[in-house]
Amino acid sequence: MTADSLGRPLKDLRISITDRCNFRCDYCMPPEKFGLGYEFLPRSEILSFEDIILLVKAMLPLGLEKVRITGGEPLLRKGIEKLISMIRECDYGLDIALTTNGSLLSKFARKLAVSGLDRVTISLDAIDDDIVQDISNSNIGSNDIISGVKSAIDAGLAVKINTVIIRNYNENQIVPIVKEFYRLGVIVRFIEYMDVGGTKDWNPEQVVFGDEIRSIIAKDYGELVPVKPEKYGEVANRWALSDGYQIGFIESISKPFCQSCTRARIAANGKLYTCLFAERGHDLKSLIKLGANVGDLQAAISKIWFNRDDKYSEIRHLNNLDKTPVEMHFIGG
Ligand code: GTP
Ligand code: 5AD
Ligand code: SF4
Ligand code: SF4
Repeated sequence: MTADSLGRPLKDLRISITDRCNFRCDYCMPPEKFGLGYEFLPRSEILSFEDIILLVKAMLPLGLEKVRITGGEPLLRKGIEKLISMIRECDYGLDIALTTNGSLLSKFARKLAVSGLDRVTISLDAIDDDIVQDISNSNIGSNDIISGVKSAIDAGLAVKINTVIIRNYNENQIVPIVKEFYRLGVIVRFIEYMDVGGTKDWNPEQVVFGDEIRSIIAKDYGELVPVKPEKYGEVANRWALSDGYQIGFIESISKPFCQSCTRARIAANGKLYTCLFAERGHDLKSLIKLGANVGDLQAAISKIWFNRDDKYSEIRHLNNLDKTPVEMHFIGG
């Protein structure tokens, strides 16, 4: 096991396979900034599938248990099902998950499941179509995403929903979201709005804490009771309704979980970040270009992890205003 300077093992890899997205969510890729003239990464700078496999193989001996594929929108990357089968062939016990906005999921769900994907997490911030369109700056409707959710369930994938709540934006969608997914028996996780990325003026007043979200749900569904965490490093705090239906809360503002953070992130250009709020990454793509093999990459990653001391969410209150963390669409959330 490889532990960092705070004793945290490396268990999860989140790998962004494209910085592009077909949505322009206000809090992630605001259209004013990510308009027609915006230059995304050129193909030559993006990790190839073979590069990704080298990195997965380098991390497996370090204790890797889970790979989450993210974007941008990962389903925009051609041949994603091929990549999933290549990762699956590296290790049959690995937990392989995907984070998507769900817009293309109906088309892909079956192919992804057949390729060896275990789980999919779909981002949806509202049921009301006007709000969905307003946030995502697209003409998608919540039903299009819910169709994707159903296709994923039908394909045998384990499904979760991620909902970011922002004050005066979508807190009136908390109950409609619970209602819809309770009916479908799908777990929802509410995420406290974070100061991630350098795109938008985040402000603490826009954050709706997990406690408040729970009290809003309790008004319609009765008090929730906390569920014991099952394993070390769970991101979401799980609570249950009286009939056992569970709802997750990712409370990184009010209840930071850096102490047990086991996640390494690789951006689409092959830079390894040891924190979602890191300003700089470690350039693994360049090492690969120079001819590094699996053993060389394993040694490099091991050294980076050994020196890791990130705990941004715990020290957020020290507020380093000069900080410009890496963009969310680039690092994949
Ligand atoms: P499971 O494997 O299903 O448990 O997934 P997960 O909870 O590890 O990951 P998921 O991608 O669903 O995380 C949901 C959201 O939580 C992310 O998109 C981020 O917004 C937030 N999040 C996840 N990991 C971290 C983290 O390490 N730090 C912070 N601050 N937020 C995180
Ligand atoms: N705060 C919290 N969650 C965010 N996401 C994107 N930006 C933020 C933010 N500032 C979420 C997306 C998606 C996941 C990848 O990260 O809504 O669910
Ligand atoms: Fe929205 Fe996700 Fe696309 Fe960002 S990557 S614009 S959060 S759909
Ligand atoms: Fe991990 Fe950084 Fe998030 Fe803390 S803020 S949980 S160290 S990614």
